[in-house]
Amino acid sequence: TPTWQVLGIESSCDETGVALVDAQPGAVPRLRAHALHSQVSMHQAYGGVVPELASRDHIRRVLPLTRQVLAQAAASLAEVDVLAYTRGPGLAGALLVGAGTACALAAALGKPTLGVHHLEGHLLSPFLSADPPEFPFVALLVSGGHTQLMRVDGVGSYALLGETIDDAAGEAFDKSAKLLGLGYPGGPALSRLAEQGDPAAFDLPRPLLHQPNLDFSFAGLKTAVATALRKLGPQPTAQQQADLAASTQAAIVEVLVRKSIKAVQASGLRRLVVAGGVGANQALRAQLDAQAARRGWRVHYPELSLCTDNGAMIALAAAMRLQAGLEQATADYRFEVRPR
Ligand code: KG4
Ligand code: ZN
Repeated sequence: TPTWQVLGIESSCDETGVALVDAQPGAVPRLRAHALHSQVSMHQAYGGVVPELASRDHIRRVLPLTRQVLAQAAASLAEVDVLAYTRGPGLAGALLVGAGTACALAAALGKPTLGVHHLEGHLLSPFLSADPPEFPFVALLVSGGHTQLMRVDGVGSYALLGETIDDAAGEAFDKSAKLLGLGYPGGPALSRLAEQGDPAAFDLPRPLLHQPNLDFSFAGLKTAVATALRKLGPQPTAQQQADLAASTQAAIVEVLVRKSIKAVQASGLRRLVVAGGVGANQALRAQLDAQAARRGWRVHYPELSLCTDNGAMIALAAAMRLQAGLEQATADYRFEVRPR
C-alpha cells in the first residue's frame, strides 16, 4: 500500500497557508508542519478583502512559507509525493497563485498534483485534532461564505441536509460587526465585544428557526441590527454596543445550535462535527457542548488554529482522498481553478 507525503497550498482568500502531511496506510494523516500568513492587517484599511492585493501578497508569501514548512519538518522537496492546492471556491486570481505554484513545483519535480475543494478541507479538518471523529457524522460547516448541514458517511460521501438561502453565518457576523464599527474581519471582534454585553438586551429575529427544514437565513439579521442601531441614535454607549453585539451573537448561535440539533436527531446519529471559521466561536462551542452533554452525543471541532483557512486542511483532504482511492493524482499539470 502506498504512503504519501502531501504538500498542500491554500490561497483562496486572505490567508496563504502551506502544510506537509504524512499519510500512512490505514491511519489518519499526520500533520508534519504548517505555516500561515494572514493578510488581515493589509486589507483592514479597506474594510474587506481587495482581490488584486490578495493575489499579489499570495505570490510574495507562498514560496517563503513552503521553505519554512519544509525546514520545520526537516523535509526536502524531493520527499514530497503529491502537490495539493485549493481548486475553489474562492477569488480567481488568488486561487491561481496556489494552483500555479503547486503545478510549477510538481512539474519541476516530476510529481503529480491534486486540486482540492476548499470546503472539503474545512469539513475534514477536525481529523487533525487530538480527538478526531469517526464516520458517519453530521457536519455543521460555518464559514464566511457557506453555512451548511451535511450528513457525512465517509471521505467523498456528503449529503446536503440544509443550507443558507442568503447570507452565511460568518457573513452575518462580519456585516453586523461592520455596522457596529468593528472593522474587518468582524466575527472575532464582535464575539470579543459580546463578552461584555447582555445577549437578551435586544430582541433580534431568528429566521426559519421553527421551520421543519434545515435551511438558514441570516440576511434579515443585519437589517435588524441596523434598525436597532438607528434607534439608539448617533452616540450609543459602550454598554449598548456590547449588548447589541451579544444579542447578535446569541441570535446567530441559537439558530445554528437549534438546526444542528434537528439535523442530528433526524439522522439517528450521535456525532456532530463543526468546521469553518465560525467554528472558532466560543459561544457556539459552549452551547453545542452543553447540548451534546445533555443528549449523549459527541461534538468534534478542529484545533482553534485550524478553524479558519489554512494549508493543513488542504493537504489533509488531498491525503484522505488519495487514501480512500477517490483520486489518481495526475502529472499532466493542466491546472484549473473553480472560483464558484
Ligand atoms: O472558514 P473561514 O476562515 O473562511 C471562509 O472560507 O470563509 O471563515 C471566516 C469567517 C469570517 O466570516 C469570520 O468573521 C468568521 O469566520 N469567524 C468568526 C470567529 N472567527 C472567525 N465568527 C465568529 N466568532 C469567531 N470567533
Ligand atoms: Zn474557508
